[in-house]
Parts: sequence; structure tokens; C-alpha cells
Amino acid sequence: MEFVMTDLSLPNANQRRKTETLYFQLAGELAQAIQSGVLQLGEKLPSIRKLSAQRQVSLSTVMEAYRELEDRGLIEARPQSGFYVQKHRNGFSAPELTQPPQQARQVVVDPMWLPATLARLHAIKIDFGFAILAPALFPNQQLQRLLAQVTRHSPELIADYGRPAGDVELRRQIARRALNWGGQFEAEEILITQGAIEALNLCLRAVTQPGDVVAIESPAYFGLLQILESFQLKALEIPTHPQTGISIEALELATRSGEVKACVLLPNFSNPLGSLMPDENKKRLVELLAERHIPLIEDDLYGEFYYKGDRPRPAKAFDKEGNVMLISSFTKTVAPGFRIGWVVAGRHHQKVEQLKFINTFSNAMPLQRTIAKFLESGGYDHHLRRLRRACFDQVMLAVAAIERFFPSDTRLHVPQGGYVFWIELNAVVDTLLLLQHALREGISFTPGPLFSPSHSYRNCLRICCNEPWGARHDHAIERLGELVQQQISEATTTR
Ligand SMILES: Cc1ncc(COP(=O)(O)O)c(C=O)c1O
Repeated sequence: MEFVMTDLSLPNANQRRKTETLYFQLAGELAQAIQSGVLQLGEKLPSIRKLSAQRQVSLSTVMEAYRELEDRGLIEARPQSGFYVQKHRNGFSAPELTQPPQQARQVVVDPMWLPATLARLHAIKIDFGFAILAPALFPNQQLQRLLAQVTRHSPELIADYGRPAGDVELRRQIARRALNWGGQFEAEEILITQGAIEALNLCLRAVTQPGDVVAIESPAYFGLLQILESFQLKALEIPTHPQTGISIEALELATRSGEVKACVLLPNFSNPLGSLMPDENKKRLVELLAERHIPLIEDDLYGEFYYKGDRPRPAKAFDKEGNVMLISSFTKTVAPGFRIGWVVAGRHHQKVEQLKFINTFSNAMPLQRTIAKFLESGGYDHHLRRLRRACFDQVMLAVAAIERFFPSDTRLHVPQGGYVFWIELNAVVDTLLLLQHALREGISFTPGPLFSPSHSYRNCLRICCNEPWGARHDHAIERLGELVQQQISEATTTR
């Protein structure tokens, strides 16, 4: 089979012109308003003349924008009447509750398909695989200035070994912020880690022994699966709904026998599903696990990435027994390069602190203090508002592109936060094969089997929206859609 080589990193003159033009930006904004439901199905758009006056752009710019939206299938022109929204937000239906195997199993992750391996071995031009936001989305210059101030005022921090628990100023700031969702911690209950990944490692080591069974959502973050593999822990996949997270009923059944020794979940904007567990479920989850003395390791890395309303509460908000080990990190929100995460480990705090001592001992003091100053300055909230907005825009435009270019039997769940989402394709599609073909054209994504110890979800994939969306991303999604369609057509002709 031969595939056309398309250079996506260097868009041709036409593509470049298109992304840079006013009409394309205007079309993008309107597409978002449609995807997010601000403009509803059947609603009339402003007349060309009105929008041109409102936006101070020419009539032809608005006409071009409306034509672009017509091409995307989002609006239709009705003769003598004007332009109308043609499509609901998310034209595809959402995937259903997952049905993983009911037995716990040893985890084996194939490093071949990890985004880091792919990035090393292939020339990737459009990366939907790594959940790593573009550097331009972070407050780099503000942090650079703060770091300079910190080391100027307190040069002794450079010579400070630090303590395993971390900088008390940073821990105080984290405790202060937790008040926003009702979290009441003392700084002493918080422990600073090398990103969320170290916190996950420490928590699992604190509460399990090799051979133990750990309940996880299905699909689950592959980094977690790698940790389970390295500790020789068995994973028990729990059915999970793309909208509401794991099924509490299934977890209740799975934890009856006493075999499950810990549970690791992402109730807020899980990776890869993007699900958000309702508060009622979080409460039941916390009560159930406390009753059965099963520690809950809660990864709340994406909790700050909500698009609307208030910050969703972590399950920890319902914890009365200290049974929930809450993990988060500033790696996704503020400074990926500082590698600062944290954990409130409840009744396992002391054990986790001992493990931190022998694992990495402490985090760099000047970096911790810089984040503390950033939180103290109020710059964090302003930055988060911009970041959420950027992620929302990126995800909505990606969803619009998928709806436009993927076959109509595609299923996808539009998340309410975060910057990753999950796609389920026709059952005949093999996303490992799809990825091999996509890589030849410089496009990457993460295939479904990487998110499951049973290597399920072969017809599924995760898309990460890491950078501002443009024509080259649309173009990559169009190519992916063609490759998917090709597999479906081949399967139907060989039947
Ligand atoms: C769900 C989840 N947990 C943990 C991590 C690791 O985070 P960190 O970079 O803070 O170590 C990631 C990174 O992508 C993640 O997606």
C-alpha cells in the first residue's frame, strides 16, 4: 500500500496563507462557539454586513469565513434568509461504558508504542501523541524573573539540600489553594515530589507489595501501567464511562473478595478518557473504599483544566479517614521543566515521606521557592484562566476537525476539561496499524492498546491537543480520517 508523503511541518504557501488570514481566525472563533454550544443548532448567524461592522473586518472576510464554515459542514446558507448553524456540538455519539476483562493481570507495556519512543524513532511533524503543552503556553518569562529574584534575595537556597517534605513556603501555598475546593490541610501534611510520577511511585510503594492487585480505570494512563509493571503489581481494570468515570457498582463488586489492595483513579478529567466523575460518585467511591480499607490514590493532575463553572472537587474533598492519597503537580499547569509535584498522603504520610527520602531525597529549593512566589503573587490564577481558554479552544477545534473528516460511525466524547480526548472507531480499524501509516506522514497519536493491560481498545485512540490549532492540524486530521476510511473500505471489500 502506498501513502502520499505530505510535509506537515512546512505547510505549503496556500496552507500558510490560510492559517494566517483573518477569515480563518474568524471561522475558528465561530466554529468554537458552535462546538461549545454557544451558538445552537438552527440558530441564525449575524448577517455578513452586521458581523463585518461588529468585527471591523471587510465584507469579503466575513463571506470567506462563512464559506469556510460551510465547507466544514457547520453552517448552511438558506437562500434569501442567511446563514444557520447546521450541527450540534459533537455530532458523533459518545463511546459507552467500557467492558474490560474481569480478571486481574500482570502488566506488560510495549515500549514501542510509547510517545517518547515514537518521538525518538520518527520524524514527527504533527504530534497528537504526547500530552505535553506547547512551551509558549507557559509563563516562562515571569518564572525566569522570579527565579532570578529568589536566588538574588536568598542565595543560600542554592546551597540548601532541602528536606524530603519540601519547601514549607510552597507547601503553605498549596494548602492555601486547596481551600478553594474545601480542602483543609496543614502545610505539614503535604509532601513535594518530582512531578506526579514520583508521587504515584511513592504512594503505590507505600501501600502495596509485589503481586498485589490494584484496581484502575479502563482505559488507564500508560505511565501508571508502567509503574505497576515495574513493581510487579497486577492490574484489575474496572469498567469506565467516558462521561462519568469508573462504575462504582463494578468497583463495589470487584472489591468484595478482599483481593484489591489499592485503587488508582483520575476522577477529574481522566487521561485518556477525559471523564469527570460527578460529586455524588466521588462521595460513594470514598466511602466504599474507606469501608473496605482500600487506599485510594487520586491523581488530580488535570483538575485545574476545567472549561466552565467552578473547579471540580477532588474525591479527597469527601475523605474523613485519611484514606485518600491526593496527588497533583505544577508540571502541567506552570513549569514542566521544574518537575514539581505534590501529594497529601493522609494516614500514609509518614511512610511516603520515608520513601521520598530514599528515592530522590528532596526537590531543588530555588525552583520550589519560585513556584511558591508565583502562587503568592496571584499570577497563577491569571495564567490558569488563559491556559484553560487555550486548551478549550484547541480541543473544540480538534473535535470539529474529527467530525468533519472522520467516518460517520466514529464515536468520541467531548471532555469538559483537560486537553486530551478519546476516539472509538469502527471495530475493524486497527489503530496500531493506523499509527504505522500515520507516522510515515509525520503524524502521531497514541493507540488504544497502550492504555490497557489486556491490550484492549485496538480500535480506539487518544488525541492530545497541545498547541494552538491551525490549518496544518486540520490537514493532519483529514489525512488520519482518510487512513481510517481506507482500513474500513479494505475490510469491507475483503469480507
Ligand atoms: C495522568 C497522569 N499522571 C501523571 C503524569 C506524570 O506527571 P508529571 O509530569 O507531573 O510527573 C502524567 C503525565 O502526562 C499523567 O498524564
